[in-house]
Amino acid sequence: MKGEATLQNALHWGEQNLTQSALDSPRLDAEILLAHALGMTITQLHAHPQSQLSSAALAFYLQLIERRARHEPVAYIVGQKEFYGLDFFVDNRVLIPRPETELLVELSVEMAQARSLRLIADVGTGCGAIAVSLAVHLPQALVYATDASPAALEVAVCNCRRHGVEDRVRLLHGHLLEPLPEPVDLIVANLPYVSQAEWAQLPPEISRYEPREALNGGRDGLDHIRRLLAQAGRYLKPGGVVLLEIGATQGPAVVALARHHFPAARVEIAQDYAGLDRIVMVKGAGEQRSRGADMEVVWF
Ligand SMILES: C[S@@+](CC[C@H](N)C(=O)[O-])C[C@H]1O[C@@H](n2cnc3c(N)ncnc32)[C@H](O)[C@@H]1O
Repeated sequence: MKGEATLQNALHWGEQNLTQSALDSPRLDAEILLAHALGMTITQLHAHPQSQLSSAALAFYLQLIERRARHEPVAYIVGQKEFYGLDFFVDNRVLIPRPETELLVELSVEMAQARSLRLIADVGTGCGAIAVSLAVHLPQALVYATDASPAALEVAVCNCRRHGVEDRVRLLHGHLLEPLPEPVDLIVANLPYVSQAEWAQLPPEISRYEPREALNGGRDGLDHIRRLLAQAGRYLKPGGVVLLEIGATQGPAVVALARHHFPAARVEIAQDYAGLDRIVMVKGAGEQRSRGADMEVVWF
């Protein structure tokens, strides 16, 4: 970096460096990384533009900029991501929680409150963002959170402790619903749903850094959703509900799958804030097939 090591110069240098690396928001990224290096807020940075960085702080900041210039996600560099108003610890063992998944939590909270659903399963919990958010917003709930990745569950442990919900979020290692010790009222899942064709189009931030097993949904992206829907009837209490996050083009295929497993279903789709199909809701799914009861699959 040339010139005096003021905050203003450091920001300018970082922004230029990240612009050359073709990143989308170089200024904001430089601000976040400088604030992280100094343990300050971005507002504090701007309040003292002529303050000098120590040589240790400058060296640390330069390292952070180098990592970002290689397209490592900001959330991994700073070890944090905000989700549903809560801060989650993240690193490269877990998918970084996405804003569209907040809709899954919002609908789950509404559904649980409206129907007094207390036992919940979050399948493929990753860093625990969904399970922890539900436990925080539903004080009566017990949440079983499963994941096939032991490394992801280590991160989820940290987040349960961080938010003081370790007594009401039970982390379970295993395949989809198989680790559940009892049937639940509500199954919530953001499972991997990236298809083979989409994988080739992913930006390097995602394909190089985020865990492949958190994204890869097989040839058409539906391998995990297909298996979950096949299992769901056995792990739900009668009258239970399933909420699934899906890829924007997967609606018709998932409708067909849900109708196959739950033929009496009513189906609705919820769209995300960008107007894309995002959530499938299956109501009254527990023991449907065997009892032939009135199954509803509701798409918002
Ligand atoms: C798309 S990520 C979602 C993470 C988190 N729930 C979120 O929304 O940010 C999918 C998660 O499912 C897990 N997973 C993949 N296959 C699984 C399986 N067969 N059983 C349980 N979890 C699985 C991955 O390890 C990953 O943590």
